[in-house]
Amino acid sequence: MQVDHHDNNNTSILRFNALWAANFYHDSILVFSTGRSPTLYKELRKEKPLLTPNITIMSVGTEIMYGDNMIPDQGWEHELNEGWDRNVVVEEASKFPELRRQVESEQRPHKVSFYVEKNHADNVIGALSSALKEHGLKVKLIYSGGIDLDILPEGAGKGQALAYLLRKFKADGRSPASTLVCGDSGNDAELFSVPDVHGVMVGNAQEELLRWYAENGQGNPHIFRATERCAAGIIQAMQHFDFQRNISPRDKVQLLDGKYHSDEHAQVAQFIIEFHLLWERWELGKVEESEAIFKLLKDSMVCACSLIVPTGEELNAYEAIEDLRTNYGAYKGQIYQNWIDRLRIQSLANGNWVATFDRWRRTATKATCRVTTAILQSEANSGKLQWTHIHETWLKGYGDTKS
Ligand code: GLC
Repeated sequence: MQVDHHDNNNTSILRFNALWAANFYHDSILVFSTGRSPTLYKELRKEKPLLTPNITIMSVGTEIMYGDNMIPDQGWEHELNEGWDRNVVVEEASKFPELRRQVESEQRPHKVSFYVEKNHADNVIGALSSALKEHGLKVKLIYSGGIDLDILPEGAGKGQALAYLLRKFKADGRSPASTLVCGDSGNDAELFSVPDVHGVMVGNAQEELLRWYAENGQGNPHIFRATERCAAGIIQAMQHFDFQRNISPRDKVQLLDGKYHSDEHAQVAQFIIEFHLLWERWELGKVEESEAIFKLLKDSMVCACSLIVPTGEELNAYEAIEDLRTNYGAYKGQIYQNWIDRLRIQSLANGNWVATFDRWRRTATKATCRVTTAILQSEANSGKLQWTHIHETWLKGYGDTKS
């Protein structure tokens, strides 16, 4: 995921989120690979509407964690001990006055990080590499963002971590049909050299990545240089490489039009995402205030649809949604961001589905999250989907006293 720090509305992340949740959650693996330590990554997640990835790679490919609970891959960390001696790295680096140590949170067991100005970078990297080699260490120095210098074990890095994961998937007989890597800075360069992957350098790629591309990537049809920034560049690449399912529901003019992907799980996912987006557009006043549009929302529920809200109160959702009529345009011109995270869908018997997801909502002053379990049914003849039960609880720390 490429995070745009200049986009306060998070437009492109939200477009990506809707695309992923509607089309990919059920059969694809989302991996975030960041230079940040777990500490800074957690801070970023509070600031930005990021999906929960299946796998998180942090600290420039030195830490791999799985699932919502971020279980560390200890096997990977063990492999990185080979040829690595952190103390020697710290000691040798301290001999270079051009290097300024980064904050403590960014110093990790297999990553020692500094700042170094561009005009000193090449010399320092050369001299420090030689010094460490003389100690018999096997290390890798990576320069990113025109300022950050990371020293890692030779076998570490974002590309090596990805290659390790792909080897693991293969050993389990679960190799992905295709892999897309995305990057904007120096520490991403090696992602593009992993065999059999497609890659996108987003429009805001940094000088050192463009330099790598000029030297190593020119003419490689598997690498695409997007003109769009950040997550929008990723969507552009999915279209460029003609990946199936590459239109974000946020880019669709008509929502809940029943034009869904053929896979049944994906149909349910698309219905859920489009329902919430249409609701958002209604509250933002971005669709026509018509009975026809309102009916699309209302008809998405069976008449007896039960809704248990986080306070424990039980309502009839089909009746409760009437309140939404007066909410047309209530958030017009305001910060109002909605996204669905951790969407999981399972098929029950007789055309029924159970879906669990986190429904996030962010306004200028507050973020709330409803952890939701819902039952949906698809009508036998038409295949039309409808909500039958919805049960919500607040995610701890993200409740709202008003509901
Ligand atoms: C992130 C990390 C930093 C690292 C940089 C480049 O900003 O916090 O420690 O040097 O990425 O990899």
